[in-house]
Amino acid sequence: MLDERATVLLNRQVAEGFYLLRLEAPDLAATAEPGQFTSLRVSDQLVPLLRIPLSFSAVDSQSGTVELLYEARGSKSRLLSQVRDQQTLSCLGPLGKGFTQPAAGQRVVLVGGGIGLPPLLFMGARLRQQGHHEAVLLAGARNAAKHLPLADLQLAVPQVRLATDDGSLGHGGLVTELLAEELAVAPGSMVCACGPHGMMAAVAGLCRRRGVPCQVSLEEYMACGFGVCVGCVVETASGEGYGRYQRICVDGPVFDALRVRWEEG
Ligand SMILES: Cc1cc2nc3c(=O)[nH]c(=O)nc-3n(C[C@H](O)[C@H](O)[C@H](O)COP(=O)(O)OP(=O)(O)OC[C@H]3O[C@@H](n4cnc5c(N)ncnc54)[C@H](O)[C@@H]3O)c2cc1C
Ligand code: FES
Repeated sequence: MLDERATVLLNRQVAEGFYLLRLEAPDLAATAEPGQFTSLRVSDQLVPLLRIPLSFSAVDSQSGTVELLYEARGSKSRLLSQVRDQQTLSCLGPLGKGFTQPAAGQRVVLVGGGIGLPPLLFMGARLRQQGHHEAVLLAGARNAAKHLPLADLQLAVPQVRLATDDGSLGHGGLVTELLAEELAVAPGSMVCACGPHGMMAAVAGLCRRRGVPCQVSLEEYMACGFGVCVGCVVETASGEGYGRYQRICVDGPVFDALRVRWEEG
């Protein structure tokens, strides 16, 4: 794990409340894998003390840059949205375990809700680079203004289907309805999902019932980000006592959906 002093190259709003942060961070860019994350200090002041964990949304090892997409929703992310070009930020990483590779030639369905898209965009771009896998991105949001620009999504994954809760763009309804359609036509797919917990529980349930392999990237509040504080646990479907719990920051954030104990689905 590195603590790299990264230089801000760009920090701009790309959709309602959503920002794109591009950093010059050659050491992180050389090793980050899809599904891994970095933990940033948003200020050199004492407050806020905690770092903010953010998944890599794009990585370019040739130019030594990494990109992060984030929603300004609380104290740390709002401070981050005020960071200016050429400032430097302490970035720990790459942290956690990312997505596992699909089987040779397997179709991959990437399912993202809200600000769950970043790790899926990196995964989609990696699959595209490898050239052996067909991938489709299913992106859900509350309304059209909350969607990242389609052209930006298509840079990572050319085949994109959008859904909105209010029907203002793309399919009117839940992104899981699009997933059901995709699995009906390509039941041999592998699914990777990231988004609100309820959405991931629904995706996990659908995949379990259809016998489709599914990986989910989980989120939890994190204090240390590297396995020490045990503040980020998820209950798994097996194990006894404390053995049932896994730390999202080091055992995940990506888990086989069958390993997670879901409340529903
Ligand atoms: C491994 C990992 C990867 C992540 N990747 C991204 C990413 O790529 N882009 C992104 O925007 N966010 C991502 N997050 C979530 C991000 O870290 C939180 O949004 C951030 O911690 C909020 O900090 P804050 O101080 O701005 O908000 P806070 O003041 O802590 O909270 C503001 C609001 O957001 C909610 N909230 C805060 N953290 C979380 C969380 N982890 N899960 C659900 N709700 C939360 C709170 O309930 C509250 O309503 C990731 C989290 C993890 C653990
Ligand atoms: S955040 Fe400390 S153990 Fe995961």
